[in-house]
Amino acid sequence: MLNSKSHIGVIGSGAMGGGIAQVAATAGHKVFIYDNNEAALKKAGIALETSLAKLIEKQKLSTEAGKSILGNTVFVNSLDQLASCNLVIEAVVENLEVKKSIFSQLEKVLSPEALLASNTSSLSITSIAAACKNPERVLGIHFFNPATLMQLVEIIPGVATKTEHITQVKEMITAWGKTTVVAKDTPGFIVNRVARPFYSEAVRIYEEGIADMATIDAAMKEQGFKMGPFELMDLIGHDVNYVVTETVWTQFYYDPKFKPALSQKRLLEAGFLGRKTGRGFYDYSANASNPEAKNDPALKQIVFQRILAMLINEAADTLYLKIASKEDIDLAMTKGVNYPKGLLKWADEWGLEKVYKELERLRDFYEEDRYRVCPLIKTLKNTNKTVY
Ligand code: NAI
Repeated sequence: MLNSKSHIGVIGSGAMGGGIAQVAATAGHKVFIYDNNEAALKKAGIALETSLAKLIEKQKLSTEAGKSILGNTVFVNSLDQLASCNLVIEAVVENLEVKKSIFSQLEKVLSPEALLASNTSSLSITSIAAACKNPERVLGIHFFNPATLMQLVEIIPGVATKTEHITQVKEMITAWGKTTVVAKDTPGFIVNRVARPFYSEAVRIYEEGIADMATIDAAMKEQGFKMGPFELMDLIGHDVNYVVTETVWTQFYYDPKFKPALSQKRLLEAGFLGRKTGRGFYDYSANASNPEAKNDPALKQIVFQRILAMLINEAADTLYLKIASKEDIDLAMTKGVNYPKGLLKWADEWGLEKVYKELERLRDFYEEDRYRVCPLIKTLKNTNKTVY
């Protein structure tokens, strides 16, 4: 049974592992963090101290609490030292073979009751669990970056995972102050699937010359999105954002709904990764000239309608295919990527007839399967029902 006294193990002390360890230690758990790279472990120790010092300086944390979080965190250099852990969350490189090998070793180290979780963004939980003799105790616990700040955590049962383990983990992560949603083990889970059209439809509109990127960004921000698609892709980095898009597309057997955009791939190839390299879709160097948004409300409406219809369609498909509940799909998009409204709620507000018409218009025009309407939208619309 998991409880507030449970020992938590974290494998991989990089960006995600370090953050997850801090969250668990802040919740009062004894945390053991392991990395096979000595330098990475050292770096994580310094990062934790720096992060706590900042919180103390901003008076968001007392000096005593900071000390106890540090005292709760043990940096270890062998897997064996995780033996007392009741739950271990793995956050090493996104490589199936590496993860499988860790899980099979870990199973031998831990007690038979301990739970094993992966923070993978794109790999199948079921395939990782298959490396274990007892896949019933393996699940996905997917945090968002930075784990200390982002509220959402997706919990993913694999095909063999016992339901009671999901319930226990959900309770514990909620006690850590996070919002949890449960998603079926499918590519991208909820957020990384449903958000795809925000990026890819925007790039398509830009590639076709319908609107420039600044106008597309403005169109979305004026409707309540914190950042426009191009600004956001540049912030996330094309090495991450493009790779997620490509992975989701290939894992869905090349479904055209998820097809990546060549212009983004070229940025990646050029090393124009976004803000972190000083250039992505926009140029971040001093004196750079970037396009300015057009003052054209009609054009912005066209852009917004097309992107929102595609987002709603994906949220509807996620519900139709029973990947998650409607409440969890909406919660995931508002808490995980800060959308101004849940997409399914938005669908009801907009009216399913309007969503349907926009998608049908796109499908008729492009004659592409990419724009096929989710059967749920058709069914609800035809019977005058709403999603909620
Ligand atoms: P990272 O590169 O910052 O850290 C990975 C760490 O794992 C490194 O410190 C590395 O030394 C260590 N490592 C590699 N192989 C190992 C092994 N065999 N045993 C022990 N340690 C090993 O990577 P990041 O960004 O923290 O990602 C980790 C995982 O979290 C990946 O599966 C990724 O898909 C997932 N994820 C990443 C997010 C992000 O925005 N960076 C968001 C959500 C999930």
